[in-house]
Amino acid sequence: MILSKRLKAITEYIEEGVRVIDVGCDHALLDIYLTLEKKNKCIASDINLNVLAKTKEMISSYGLEKEIEIVQSDGIDNIEIEKDDIVVIAGMGTSTILHILREKKPNNLIIQSNNDLDILRRKVIEKGYIIEDEKAVFEKGIYYVIIKFCKGNQEYLEEDYLFGPILREKKEEEMVSYFKELLLSKEKIVKQIPDNHKEKKRFINEIKMLKEILKS
Ligand SMILES: C[S@@+](CC[C@H](N)C(=O)[O-])C[C@H]1O[C@@H](n2cnc3c(N)ncnc32)[C@H](O)[C@@H]1O
Repeated sequence: MILSKRLKAITEYIEEGVRVIDVGCDHALLDIYLTLEKKNKCIASDINLNVLAKTKEMISSYGLEKEIEIVQSDGIDNIEIEKDDIVVIAGMGTSTILHILREKKPNNLIIQSNNDLDILRRKVIEKGYIIEDEKAVFEKGIYYVIIKFCKGNQEYLEEDYLFGPILREKKEEEMVSYFKELLLSKEKIVKQIPDNHKEKKRFINEIKMLKEILKS
């Protein structure tokens, strides 16, 4: 089964056999792949019943209705999470992800947010997590950042929240081009900000940090 590069990158963080809770599963392609290729036990969950009807059809088309459990839930509210479970939350915005994590704190999280990565890192870390690994993947003109969190306590710097404590140290081509694109977009924005605007200083500072990352 061929998975998108983004979803495939998520599966690379998942060891064979562990139970996976796919929150906001939509098509459940991740669950189908993990069940077939990595012997994971998956719970495919979504808030939307219409979506879940299609999820069910998709799972049936692979003959996996006995293997993959489907659960309707707002986030993880209706799911009992065990200590070794991996909770995947992908393809959503940071505010929805933080809503999903407002009460329960699973031990292992893999998150791919579509926006506000600095807020995501800061808020998840504040809940008692550390960043175990992170990577950027480029697919169809878009960079996606995938972050693996586990429980722990660690001090982070401002640039860690903004650009990732591990990501900014990575030297693979895809990570470097991710930071180059980020730099270009911030340089474009800063030109539009009037000199007396309070946001200007913040952008100039972030540009400086990005140049340091790309220099090292
Ligand atoms: C863009 S799809 C992402 C699908 C898949 N996770 C991926 O990354 O390709 C977002 C899905 O999240 C679901 N969703 C949105 N808010 C949710 C919530 N609070 N709890 C569970 N699912 C949610 C939507 O119904 C939708 O199916």
